Amino acid sequence: MTRSSNETWTVTIVVPEDSSLDEAGETYDLEVGADETILTAARSAGVWLPADCQQGWCTTCAARLVDGDVVHPNARRYYDEDDEAGYILPCTAKPRTDTTVVVDQYDDFLEFRAANNRPPGNSKLDS
Ligand code: FES
Repeated sequence: MTRSSNETWTVTIVVPEDSSLDEAGETYDLEVGADETILTAARSAGVWLPADCQQGWCTTCAARLVDGDVVHPNARRYYDEDDEAGYILPCTAKPRTDTTVVVDQYDDFLEFRAANNRPPGNSKLDS
C-alpha cells in the first residue's frame, strides 16, 4: 500500500531494559511522517536517541526492526545484508508502514558489520 507523503505512520520505539540510555525500559509511540526520519521524530518528541553523523554512515544510531518497513533513501552506507538482518539506521530511516524498532543496538551492529567484512565493524572494534 502506498500513502501520500503527508501521511504518517506509528513508529513504536522500544528502549531495552539493559540500555545505558536514561530511557531504558521505556516504550514510545510516535507519529512519523513518510518524509521524516525516525531519529528526527523521536528527538522532536523529546526522546533523545543516540546519534552522531546523522547521514547513515557512522552506525551510532543502529536499531533493530522488529515489525514494519522502512526505507533509507539518504543513507551513505547501508548494505543489503543490514536490511536482511533487520538492522536500521534511524537517522536516515523513514517509515513505510507502522513500525516497531528496538534502539541502542550499536555494539551488536558493529559485531554484525565486522562479521560481514563491512565498515566500520573491525575498525571500531579494534580501537
Ligand atoms: S547517526 Fe551516524 S549512522 Fe545514524
